Amino acid sequence: MGSARAPVVGQITRGTTGTNRLRRVDRWIARHSALRRAPDPLVVDLGYGASGVTALELHARLARTRPDVEVLGLEIDPARVARADAQLTAVRAGATSFAADAKVSFARGGFEVPVPGGRRPAVVRAMNVLRQYSEDDVGGAWQAMASRLAPGGLLVEGTCDELGRVVTWVAVGENAEPRTLTISLRLAGMERPSVAAERLPKALIHRNVPGERVHALLAALDLEWERAAAVSPFGPEHRWRTTLEAVEASGWPLRERARWRLGEVTVPWDAVAPRPQGHGRS
Ligand SMILES: C[S@@+](CC[C@H](N)C(=O)[O-])C[C@H]1O[C@@H](n2cnc3c(N)ncnc32)[C@H](O)[C@@H]1O
Repeated sequence: MGSARAPVVGQITRGTTGTNRLRRVDRWIARHSALRRAPDPLVVDLGYGASGVTALELHARLARTRPDVEVLGLEIDPARVARADAQLTAVRAGATSFAADAKVSFARGGFEVPVPGGRRPAVVRAMNVLRQYSEDDVGGAWQAMASRLAPGGLLVEGTCDELGRVVTWVAVGENAEPRTLTISLRLAGMERPSVAAERLPKALIHRNVPGERVHALLAALDLEWERAAAVSPFGPEHRWRTTLEAVEASGWPLRERARWRLGEVTVPWDAVAPRPQGHGRS
């Protein structure tokens, strides 16, 4: 049942984090029914890193659509839990830009997702956590985290660049089945959509090679982005929409059209899932 005394599953990795870098994925979670319709809006930020700032930001963003949201930041490194608790003391004293009474707490934990009282999170966000693991670890980590979710809950696992301008994530359901891949890009100044290749979730980052579907998707996005250069004077959002309309017309099953204007594109997992061969890469 994942009590606080259960073994902590995982390994301590680099704690790199940064203010505002997860804004794109947070905005997506804020709109998702897994949060909006959750009977108990508990959200776990797993592996928040060297500072608790992204957990505090997660709470602030989600509270706009679920004012009763509660965020529990879990870290495998006890020193980082102590650091985040010290930050929380400053928050409670009203010494930061975060609400003094923000429903945020921090604790030690790993992929077993220990939550007091046996509560089950509606959402687990694990960003930039699996990056330093091996590709073969992904399935087990998804399984462990997803098994803790509330019915209808969602695991959001992904990767981003330092400033959060290139962000990708997989949405994984409570049965540990991946459902979708989302790529979210800051369009202004973006050279080509395949900048996302270096920031794909661990399950896909080693699969950006000919013959793999994610490689074909990025190639299709690049091709149509180049072709859409003619509409650049109308702005990058227009060029992105033109790109995605052409990619869709060529047969790719694109989802969440209403979010295209944010520089996002979402595809069903089946459209990009790795081919079965090629195990053992890390
Ligand atoms: C690169 S930081 C990411 C910080 C933050 N999520 C972000 O994206 O800015 C990764 C953090 O995940 C932690 N971590 C790695 N494996 C973990 C696990 N199994 N459970 C909890 N935390 C873990 C590491 O200790 C590290 O602090």
